[in-house]
Amino acid sequence: MKKVLVTYYSRTGNTAEMARMIADGLVDKGLDVTLKRVEEVNIDSIAEFDGFVVGSPNYFGTMAWPVKKFVDESVKFFKKLDGKAAAAFTSEGMIGVLDILKAFLIHGCVVQGLTSAGHFGPVAVGKPDERINKEVVVLVEKFAALVERL
Ligand SMILES: Cc1cc2nc3c(=O)[nH]c(=O)nc-3n(C[C@H](O)[C@H](O)[C@H](O)COP(=O)(O)O)c2cc1C
Repeated sequence: MKKVLVTYYSRTGNTAEMARMIADGLVDKGLDVTLKRVEEVNIDSIAEFDGFVVGSPNYFGTMAWPVKKFVDESVKFFKKLDGKAAAAFTSEGMIGVLDILKAFLIHGCVVQGLTSAGHFGPVAVGKPDERINKEVVVLVEKFAALVERL
């Protein structure tokens, strides 16, 4: 069974809600999903995963610092995540999604994009709504297929 880490930072709950939706969807697709707040991820465990779905609220046009800390600490596994799958989501603003995805591209990961409104991953405006439900369903479908293919 392929292993996926869904991790996120959230202060007021919007990003956490998206993370739970994504994790539940990936479990339904038959993946072995670990859902953790980013502050609780043991960085030494990340090479065990076949894919990563990372979420952050948009803070001043980029990811929140606990997510950046996770990304920066992941340098320990540079070249060891090559070819794994990655996707991102945010609450407010797609620039933050792109920043997360850039880091995973530098790791050599294969990134899942979206043809729907979020372009680069689900982007909620405040509390996730029906539009986000639909984007999450699409992301889950595509990401699960990508992880299985790699
Ligand atoms: C320090 C800080 C910076 C923020 N910067 C932005 C921003 O630049 N643009 C924006 O649209 N929202 C910004 N927000 C709003 C959050 O992205 C938004 O409230 C988000 O839904 C919070 O997610 P959460 O509920 O998962 O904590 C900021 C919030 C905080 C606390």
